[in-house]
Amino acid sequence: MTHEEWSIDKSRLVYGLNRNDLHFLDIDDEGRLLIRIGSETITVEEIIKRIETEDEERVGYTSSFTLRLPQLISFQVLKLRRTFESAMNQTGYSGKFRAIYPVKVNQRRDFVVQVLQTDPEYGLEAGTKAELFLIKSVLEKEKHRLIVCNGAKDPEYLDSIAECIKEGYSTAISVESLYEARMIVERFDPKTTDLVLRLKPYLKVRGHWSHSTGRDSKFGLSIHDLFDTVELLKSRDFQGSVSTILGHVGSQITAIEDFHVFAVFMTRIFQELRDMGLSNLTTIDFGGGLPIDYTSTHQPNLMELYARSLLGGVKEELGNWPDGMVPDIMIESGRGITALGSMVMVKALEVRSVFPSIEGMDEDMKREVDEAIESMASASSVSELLGIWNESQVKKSWLAESMSDLREKERALASVRAGIRFQLSELESADLSSDAHLERLWYPDHIVIGNFSVFNSACDYVLVKQHFPVLPIIDLHVRPETTVRLVDITCDSDGEISQFHRKETEDIWFTQDFRPLTMTVAGMGQGIPVGSLENIHGSYFAIALTGAYQDVIEMNHNLLGDLPDVELLFTKEKKWQVRWLSGAESMEELLEEMGYVGFDIDEDPYMSEND
Ligand SMILES: Cc1ncc(COP(=O)(O)O)c(C=O)c1O
Repeated sequence: MTHEEWSIDKSRLVYGLNRNDLHFLDIDDEGRLLIRIGSETITVEEIIKRIETEDEERVGYTSSFTLRLPQLISFQVLKLRRTFESAMNQTGYSGKFRAIYPVKVNQRRDFVVQVLQTDPEYGLEAGTKAELFLIKSVLEKEKHRLIVCNGAKDPEYLDSIAECIKEGYSTAISVESLYEARMIVERFDPKTTDLVLRLKPYLKVRGHWSHSTGRDSKFGLSIHDLFDTVELLKSRDFQGSVSTILGHVGSQITAIEDFHVFAVFMTRIFQELRDMGLSNLTTIDFGGGLPIDYTSTHQPNLMELYARSLLGGVKEELGNWPDGMVPDIMIESGRGITALGSMVMVKALEVRSVFPSIEGMDEDMKREVDEAIESMASASSVSELLGIWNESQVKKSWLAESMSDLREKERALASVRAGIRFQLSELESADLSSDAHLERLWYPDHIVIGNFSVFNSACDYVLVKQHFPVLPIIDLHVRPETTVRLVDITCDSDGEISQFHRKETEDIWFTQDFRPLTMTVAGMGQGIPVGSLENIHGSYFAIALTGAYQDVIEMNHNLLGDLPDVELLFTKEKKWQVRWLSGAESMEELLEEMGYVGFDIDEDPYMSEND
């Protein structure tokens, strides 16, 4: 066990702050979480105080909310272009870089407009008819920007696309099946139509959504359909209409090197299609997939590695096509652009202890506990320790005879578990590579009730086991006292975010009550470290990196709707401000959605602490 002094640097490492995709979060000398954007720093506590104070400009709101950080969307948009352009310059790549934002990742107006305001060349991608209408509304005065229409198409969607083309929007239609191709050649004029052929990438990449690739993928043209589609297009004079091929290998592809083989595949098809007569084919659209470092453990330059991996693959394959054309590279990153743009700020309503306080333990029981703990002192390995624990009378005699007997047994259990944790922390670190038994002993003794719904604010945690970093906003300068589970106010036991990513250190670091904060091999554990239990009630936890997908897939579980939205702004004088964007969804709105009308209840459904 490491008995050295604690330091803020250690906390930074434990929570993954001040680096990679959490580069904008840090800790001040008093242990407060702070946001650093450019040269501006501001503690989260200050932001909350601003919102809580009621005066002419401020709203006096005192509970959970979503903090929007539009500056970080701009940061990512600029970084993506710079990263690609600089990699292209350095490797002498003569094709151009182009980017479109798939609005499905976050359709909020403040997100979409932020992307557009940051880069005058950025285009947008629609996945449905409704998204196309959204895009038309934001691009009314900028019709030169590219719109790519993806997604399954029915005649109405195609009519809307035709309308867009007629109105002067630069609109491209992605062809996702032979059936769609047939509808398109019937309805469109080859001279004014821009087509994108969406292909199934016939390869396997490693990642959460890697089933987006391969023969069985839901999206894109199979290889036999591609041949038939090209024949059809040629027969109807559409061979000159195809400007782009698109492949999407799935989201959050952390095996960056897999993009290389994807790029080889796409470039080969690109050249073959040109040889087959698609002579206006100029662009390869590599879809999304750029990962976000939710655990702060990947290489710090993921975006650069991604760009280099793709360009490397394209260049390698171009070597086989001496007369081939150098394609322009298009990227449809969504997660990579928006994830940093939101944080859910969860107010802690209550702290509950799973075990009774050990004060006042019955003398006989205390003796039994002391004996059990003493017998463990001689253990020199984890298995020996667990063996003694399994034999222990305290563990065996769990069946209680009465309520007060049960309380005594719970006290005893808590004490013995604390004793074992201490003994474990004294053993050689390498022995503690986590096993299920140990995780039970380290499982948090405290539950924090947060005024939120995981389903509504961070649904991917439940749906696809997506990890999000959860951070207390105070007491980050001390060795954490213990770990807690953050549970929500829904009546669903899945409504809890307790996963914590333990970083790798040579010696394991522990909380004050001997739960591991780090491991000799990094990995997921349960329990969010907190500096001081006493200060939690009324404070907040930040769930970071929630800007991608979470707003758009949210649910209305328990009729708890959207949290209020607050935006952090910097004025020209570099002063920061918070802007109240919208309140929580009212109970009236939520009830109406379910078909119950006639209510007049403007209140939000979250817990109130007002008396
Ligand atoms: C066609 C297409 N492009 C882009 C994206 C965005 O992917 P990501 O969020 O990984 O950037 C998706 C997401 O699934 C997609 O289906």
